[in-house]
Amino acid sequence: MWNPDQYDRFKDERRQPFRDLLALVELRPKMRVADLGCGTGEMTRELHDHLKAAETLGVDNSETMLLKTSAFGDEMLRFERGEIEAFVASRPFDLIFSNAALHWVPDHRGLFTRFAGLLTPHGQLAVQMPANDDHPSHATAAEVARESFGIAPRADHLLAPESYASLLHHLGFKRQHVRVQVYAHELESRDSVVEWVRGTLLTDYQQRLGSRFEEFLEAYRTKLMARLSDATPFFYTYKRILIWASF
Ligand SMILES: C[S@@+](CC[C@H](N)C(=O)[O-])C[C@H]1O[C@@H](n2cnc3c(N)ncnc32)[C@H](O)[C@@H]1O
Repeated sequence: MWNPDQYDRFKDERRQPFRDLLALVELRPKMRVADLGCGTGEMTRELHDHLKAAETLGVDNSETMLLKTSAFGDEMLRFERGEIEAFVASRPFDLIFSNAALHWVPDHRGLFTRFAGLLTPHGQLAVQMPANDDHPSHATAAEVARESFGIAPRADHLLAPESYASLLHHLGFKRQHVRVQVYAHELESRDSVVEWVRGTLLTDYQQRLGSRFEEFLEAYRTKLMARLSDATPFFYTYKRILIWASF
């Protein structure tokens, strides 16, 4: 259900948290890097080049997103289809990186524990995840799903920020940085919010509702528009959690 063109409509806005996450990573020579939930691979290319990595592997489970990766890969930057939940490595990585993907994956305690076991002795972990479920853009979708379509809201897999800090400490990471950041976006109008979430959050409802999705979208749009200011440009706040740790 991922549509790279829809996702890329807000590429500039989405690039900033990626760059903020990348800025947390310590540059070390000849790193072996994994980018989990790599999407189209465009950001993976930037990650690989910025780190001057020896080798980078991008993993994603969406065929449509992976189709775009042919423009970005080469001998040292490869892409594979796979589930993050099932990610294993024959050799450890110096960096496991994941931008805007792990919020789709359950059991973060189990997941982070597994990642810790896939890192080299001085390995780094860098993760950015949206944490905006309490904004009307997300809460309205959950409400329409539950009340008008009788289905569960998109699952919320995120832990509290301090729980990630404790988990990283428990896993033996010596240094860490965990923060919640509010990104401030000026969108053309409140209608742009619908276009934004269609590229991400709503893909989950689209997948589960099939032919009823258009009906869902209209109900969502009507309810959401009544809740958002009609000021132009529309000021959209978007919370994200950024996590970095190193052994
Ligand atoms: C919001 S996009 C982010 C893409 C990229 N990291 C970026 O920053 O542009 C989320 C990506 O995670 C992938 N994804 C979601 N759940 C996944 C899973 N369980 N296993 C592998 N990939 C997954 C989706 O296919 C999608 O490409």
